Amino acid sequence: MSTQPFEPLDGPDGGPHPHVPQLELPVSRPAAPPTVRDEPTTDQTPVAPTTVADRAVPSSAEATFAEPAAAPAAVSHRPIGPTGRPMPLFPDPAPREAHGPARIVAMCNQKGGVGKTTTTINLGAALAEYGRKVLLVDFDPQGSLSVGLGFNPHEIDKTIYNLLMERDVTADDVVLKTNVPGMDLLPSNIDLSAAEVQLVTEVAREQVLSRVLAPMVADYDFIIIDCQPSLGLLTVNALTAAQGVIVPLETEFFALRGVAMLVETIQKVQERLNQDLEIDGLVATMYDSRTVHSREVLARLVEAFDDKVFHTAISRTVRFPETTVAGEPITTFATSSGGAYSYRQLAREVLARCPGM
Ligand SMILES: Nc1ncnc2c1ncn2[C@@H]1O[C@H](COP(=O)(O)OP(=O)(O)O)[C@@H](O)[C@H]1O
Ligand SMILES: [Mg+2]
Repeated sequence: MSTQPFEPLDGPDGGPHPHVPQLELPVSRPAAPPTVRDEPTTDQTPVAPTTVADRAVPSSAEATFAEPAAAPAAVSHRPIGPTGRPMPLFPDPAPREAHGPARIVAMCNQKGGVGKTTTTINLGAALAEYGRKVLLVDFDPQGSLSVGLGFNPHEIDKTIYNLLMERDVTADDVVLKTNVPGMDLLPSNIDLSAAEVQLVTEVAREQVLSRVLAPMVADYDFIIIDCQPSLGLLTVNALTAAQGVIVPLETEFFALRGVAMLVETIQKVQERLNQDLEIDGLVATMYDSRTVHSREVLARLVEAFDDKVFHTAISRTVRFPETTVAGEPITTFATSSGGAYSYRQLAREVLARCPGM
């Protein structure tokens, strides 16, 4: 599957891509318009609304990049956020008295290096800071999520692989506590690469992850699955287990290629395996507010995916690679950094989109 060519968002004639209209996929919307207050909510420098005239791009590019849709009047006095729309204020979530049942979210993009693992760790840690109980599932044989939380994958005795493949292994045998209070991990290592092959002959091979996660749903508020960079059987298992998908995208033009194919896969899983699946949102990563290019890519994303694009964009900063070396989330490693702030804001935005969570 990974050998299939990625499809650009534009159709062959430069017009809309035939697959983009599956924007009809059910999307979780905010339960109510987020609270509007006057103080700024983000350290992301609000970007002045761009007009066609002030953009330093050749006119040939104008056909490719459209202006973001006009903002609803109710929030029009908000500062313009990185996506070109007024940035709503996402309120601090109310504390939770009890935990579970969890919303299972697949962090998914078949492209590597787009920020899936970084977003899984830091969104998870930010949700845990807000008092949510979080389980992170490392579902990539590279084990980057486990490494990013300070574990050495080669020294882990039991991993998600054992949980998937061995009937006598229970979640309790595999779950690790992380250094973030309220956040646990189902680790992975290279063993998981064998599962992709071994699962092919299993009965209900797409539902294996869903089955092993089922006993854990009652204990957590969020279960976030860090997918591997492919649309193979492991990713299909993640999409089958999940209710929501978050798609991290690097803020560069070629990041838009392949999104149509991902949406198509999500739609197929929704039709055939998991009616409850919906796209929770697309989140731009490695955003650089200084470049017109970053803003153009975000405008294009909003044009194609509308409210599915999170208002929060994660800026490019060297602090993220540093956190991987440190083996901890940015929310604890550099707690008052812009990166930590952005992931907290993303967590509030996710909570606003998931009523009751
Ligand atoms: N916002 C960011 N700014 C700078 N570097 C980032 C950012 N997000 C992720 N990275 C770095 O990019 C690399 C790939 O990110 P990662 O989260 O592992 O992507 P994926 O899981 O999609 O392959 C890592 O080295 C990570 O530290
Ligand atoms: Mg990864």
